[in-house]
Amino acid sequence: MGNGKSITGTKLKENSSIANLPYDPSEFPRETSRHYISASSEDIKSMLSTIGLGDMSQLFSHIQPNLLFPQPLELPNELSYFEVADEIAQISNLSNLRLSFIGDQLPQWNTPKIIEFVSNLRNLSTSYTPYQPERSQGTLISHWIYQCAMSTLTGFEAINTSLYDRSFAIFEAITCSIRTSRRPSRILLASTLFPKEIEVLKTLSKETGIKFDFLALDSTRGHCDYSVLSSFGIDTLSQYSAFVFPQVNSLGVLEDVDLLTNFCEENKIRSVACIDPFLLGEGGLKPPVEFGKSGADFIAGDAQHLAIPPNFGGPGLGIFGCRHNKEKKSDLRNTPGRYIGKANDLKGRDCHVMVLSTREQHIRKEKATSNVCSNQAFLATLAGASLLSQGTKGLGLAVEIANRHQQKFIDAIQMLNGIEPAFHKNNAPTELTIRVNKSASTLIYNARSHDINLGIEVTDRCNLMESEGELIKLSFSNLHTAECVDRLIAFVQTEFHKKSTELKNFNSQIDNKYLRQKTVRIPSYSDEELFEYYNKLAELNVSPDDGCYPLGSCTMKYNPLLNDWAAGLEGFAKVHPQCPKEDAQGPLKVLHEIQEWFKGITGLAGVTTQPVAGAQGELVGIKLFQAYHRHNGENDRKYILIPRSAHGTNFATAAMAGYPDGIIYLEADAAGKIDISDFDSKLEKYGNQLCGVMITNPNTSGIFETDFKKIADSVHDAGGLVYMDGANMNAIAGLVNLGELGVDAVHNNLHKTWTIPHGGGGPGDAIVAVSDKVVDFLPGKQIFKLKDGTYDYESPRYSIGSFHRNWGNFGHKVRAYSYLLRLGREGIPNMSSVAVLSARYLFEKLNGRYKTLPENALDSPRMHEFILTLSEEDFANLENHGIPKNQAIPQIGKLFLDFGFHAPTVAFPEIFGLMIEPTESYTKEELDRFVEAVLAIKDLIELAPFVLKSAPHFTPIDRVDEVGANRNLCLHEPLDRLPPLPHNRISPAELMRLEIDDIKQRVIKLAKDSQGLI
Ligand SMILES: Cc1ncc(COP(=O)(O)O)c(C=O)c1O
Repeated sequence: MGNGKSITGTKLKENSSIANLPYDPSEFPRETSRHYISASSEDIKSMLSTIGLGDMSQLFSHIQPNLLFPQPLELPNELSYFEVADEIAQISNLSNLRLSFIGDQLPQWNTPKIIEFVSNLRNLSTSYTPYQPERSQGTLISHWIYQCAMSTLTGFEAINTSLYDRSFAIFEAITCSIRTSRRPSRILLASTLFPKEIEVLKTLSKETGIKFDFLALDSTRGHCDYSVLSSFGIDTLSQYSAFVFPQVNSLGVLEDVDLLTNFCEENKIRSVACIDPFLLGEGGLKPPVEFGKSGADFIAGDAQHLAIPPNFGGPGLGIFGCRHNKEKKSDLRNTPGRYIGKANDLKGRDCHVMVLSTREQHIRKEKATSNVCSNQAFLATLAGASLLSQGTKGLGLAVEIANRHQQKFIDAIQMLNGIEPAFHKNNAPTELTIRVNKSASTLIYNARSHDINLGIEVTDRCNLMESEGELIKLSFSNLHTAECVDRLIAFVQTEFHKKSTELKNFNSQIDNKYLRQKTVRIPSYSDEELFEYYNKLAELNVSPDDGCYPLGSCTMKYNPLLNDWAAGLEGFAKVHPQCPKEDAQGPLKVLHEIQEWFKGITGLAGVTTQPVAGAQGELVGIKLFQAYHRHNGENDRKYILIPRSAHGTNFATAAMAGYPDGIIYLEADAAGKIDISDFDSKLEKYGNQLCGVMITNPNTSGIFETDFKKIADSVHDAGGLVYMDGANMNAIAGLVNLGELGVDAVHNNLHKTWTIPHGGGGPGDAIVAVSDKVVDFLPGKQIFKLKDGTYDYESPRYSIGSFHRNWGNFGHKVRAYSYLLRLGREGIPNMSSVAVLSARYLFEKLNGRYKTLPENALDSPRMHEFILTLSEEDFANLENHGIPKNQAIPQIGKLFLDFGFHAPTVAFPEIFGLMIEPTESYTKEELDRFVEAVLAIKDLIELAPFVLKSAPHFTPIDRVDEVGANRNLCLHEPLDRLPPLPHNRISPAELMRLEIDDIKQRVIKLAKDSQGLI
């Protein structure tokens, strides 16, 4: 993530050169190869000849020519590696970084050294979601640390390994409350939540039946008007499923969380408390487990600031938690997201594994608790490391320092006329809203000539009369020094006159009842201890740096170091999303360029860069469709057609958008494409009630839907719209014109095609492109370039609202932009072509020894991925050796780990399939070694099937007892020591150096030894 590290100690200067990079790119062959394609031109020629093609364009000859872009694309030319570095550095220098008191609960704290260290551990930052626990203990334990640390701070027993951000976490807590309270979908919201977060909640809840009421503000005291609570009638109270309130509100005032939580408990309303974990350390605020008589039911929050600087608003780190104890057990299974549990392997070793996955979209489809797939995993890893470095004492100290600054400022303004703390009791320890008797915006403007970003105007958060002045909120942190505060004070002294008499009557004490009463302890560890520990953690994982990472659909390609460096530049990482736009020209330029590039890449009319993951992109798409139909007065279009083989998020998204009962499955034909006769009959039945269709193209079997255009035309004729799941853009980017294809909305997963690291499960990221039909409804802001070359933004005419409080996962957009600059107009289609070529080459080499799926699809040319399976005889042979058919495929996946690779995608979309996607990142030699390994695996299946029973053999742990881990759920433990680590028996790096045949023999020997065979 953009951790704001200074590469040279200062910002890069204009015309800086590659010498400023903290690494030598020539030491990383994948880094310096053109378009990040490792295969040489000889490799490409040889692979083409193996598959019997003369040139790259023939890879796409089965796609109607009118759907293909004329080449070259109308996009900028590629830049050299050096030019990209300079260009990006210059763009980051467009930002102004002033002494800033802007926070609004995204303050910038001093980040410990471990953050930068862990950010550079590629086996943690680039690895996949830990679905293969034997090769992912590094990720699992780092997430476990996050879970345990958050549990310690909050007292909550179940904290998931993150959601996108606080707004999304609140929405998820609301839907959980509705499910668990079995009451109407009516929700009470504190009006002191952030206005932009309320906007997100409204956007997400449209068409879902959720209704919001607001608990009014007491504008004198700056918190909710508690007197209103007693005026609610019994009938009204029984309508509410949940009440959402913050601990520190949007005016920087502490709410009476005891009173609000008790109100919920007394009226059987689920309480959702919004918290900031940074404030819960030693001597800090009361933890949510102690709110009221029994604690809150759910918590939502953001912990981005524990991990990284503001990054223009994201990636965030959405905290979500529920209670899970003897009294409250049932909520957990209704919650969204991933949890890590303690487990044992089959030999009884302690280890960790993802648990409770039967709630998630990949298993439960539209019945899932949420559509979330990628989360903010790597931020959770960083936040966990940050907490181990600071400990609860460190957090307490950081807040104490910030509070001293706040006090000093309060003391100073008490000597001045016309400026005062706006609220006289229980201001949060690090924030302060001031009331001024002059224009807040002028004051903020004037501060900038002193190189100070004073804070944000919050007058409109409080219904003040004109005579009551205007409000500005300031945030203090441990990054501020005494001199910083002196500068702030000196500025206000220039603006306000001294009082004639000194009158210090402001009591800034926080009432004891708002504070933590019991001790809390996360110890802090030295940098050296943590460097060593996280290094060891990383060694337990495998990274796409090391070799082919063949996860179909997930596109585990090489993630350039240059992109990470770019995202870390201060002019991106340290820019606050609420700073004046004049100061944020660097980020705005990046977002604008991406917005425009993606119109060219997709052939569509509009683009939003706001969505934070593929699944959220899908939701944006469906909400756009709903808005379009509403706008046209068609309110009855409530059906969505989705192929049965689609990714689970498609179904879960449709349900989340408000159509849990409107999903109509489309069947596949024998060749693995949408069955046109099935489509026709469903269209006939649902046509005039059709919202739209969601189609993945190329589909999840790696086959291009050659009837896509025909289907799109029919859907349009019926008045519906067409969503394309673009997770597989790696096969067609820059080649297929989605406008010609008939697409109305498509998401591009940046953590797939566009080289964003997977982070052990996230943050993902997405860009959604749309047709002109829905362009006026786009969410968030559209950025445009003014004549003077600067950037500005505005909301589209009929915008559906926002999906994120700020600009989305901005740090990731910088990475994607750096990649785009390097690829340019030739690189984009070249990248897709080599990805397809690599897959076809592997297919050619493996087809025959393995069967492929779909069964009758041999004539459908594969794009960037394909599915292997076994013959019925092979399955029968395995059954005879005690390996049931339903366990064979997952167990074969474990054999890949033995050869130093990650497993392919197992059992999706075909239950008996291994889906392989090589990407364009590997040389022919590397692909050949992979082929050799996959063939060796086939030898083992045929000649030594018993090895499957004990596989994997070289990972730090044996196969994990997932059933046991789910039965005896353990979601946290005290962090009084660093969790012990298992050890690689043979590391993936070492396996990569061994001969494939040697590995094969070792596997046989180890399997015999461990199973007691002679
Ligand atoms: C086909 C497909 N669609 C949608 C998604 C969801 O994307 P995200 O994980 O970014 O939410 C994925 C993710 O793996 C996918 O493979």
